[in-house]
Amino acid sequence: MADNLLRQYLEFYRDLGVRELYRQMPAIVPAAAVPVQAPAGAGPELPPLTPSGDALLKILEDIGDCRRCRLHEGRGKLVFGVGNEHSPVVFVGEGPGAEEDEQGIPFVGRAGQLLTQMIENTAKKEGIPLRREDVYICNVVKCRPPGNRTPEPDEMEICGEFLYRQLSVIQPKAICALGGTAARAMTGHKEGVTKMRGKWYKWREVPVMVTYHPSYLLRPYNQSAKRDAWEDLKRLLHFVYD
Ligand code: URA
Repeated sequence: MADNLLRQYLEFYRDLGVRELYRQMPAIVPAAAVPVQAPAGAGPELPPLTPSGDALLKILEDIGDCRRCRLHEGRGKLVFGVGNEHSPVVFVGEGPGAEEDEQGIPFVGRAGQLLTQMIENTAKKEGIPLRREDVYICNVVKCRPPGNRTPEPDEMEICGEFLYRQLSVIQPKAICALGGTAARAMTGHKEGVTKMRGKWYKWREVPVMVTYHPSYLLRPYNQSAKRDAWEDLKRLLHFVYD
């Protein structure tokens, strides 16, 4: 039992792209996830990775007024996730920006408005009745990295437990990774997003479609990537809703 759970933890971190586990684990990672510290049979019982009866509210409660990593220092609001917890598709971004940090809701700034348009317009064109509120949207990290920098591996590792639990509760039919950071975190692959986009990967057994981050598509010199992103979304939505 303990070995099995341990394997799950290790696979989870490997999928997040984490190659090393720190011996001094941050508080959120259950102590028993560091087997080398506990002699066989003498360690505490491993908690289940996804507690049975877990729910989004319970996860939010467990996150609480999180201070598990340095990102809390500059945080306005923690950005947990938004949308339909029974959605068959979950969109995962990198981390909150300034407006998300102010409102506590993911993808509400310019990039978020583009994401909403992309979801709703693609769906409409393809004859799929779908609004933003029908899907679930969240990020790899829940607090805004200073200056919108890329989250550090230890920050993704710490916050990753909550993303894992969110996805385990929602059990989507597919996940859309928005941009390179989310793509690498979800799949463990190390290529750039240009190589990964438009392809299916897996998170656990769940298919992951990688596409460009909407912030990237907002830059004027990346306009041709928009067409690609629309194609990626088309594939994703047909897979999920056909
Ligand atoms: N970019 C992200 O990756 N996530 C957000 O919530 C907003 C912008």
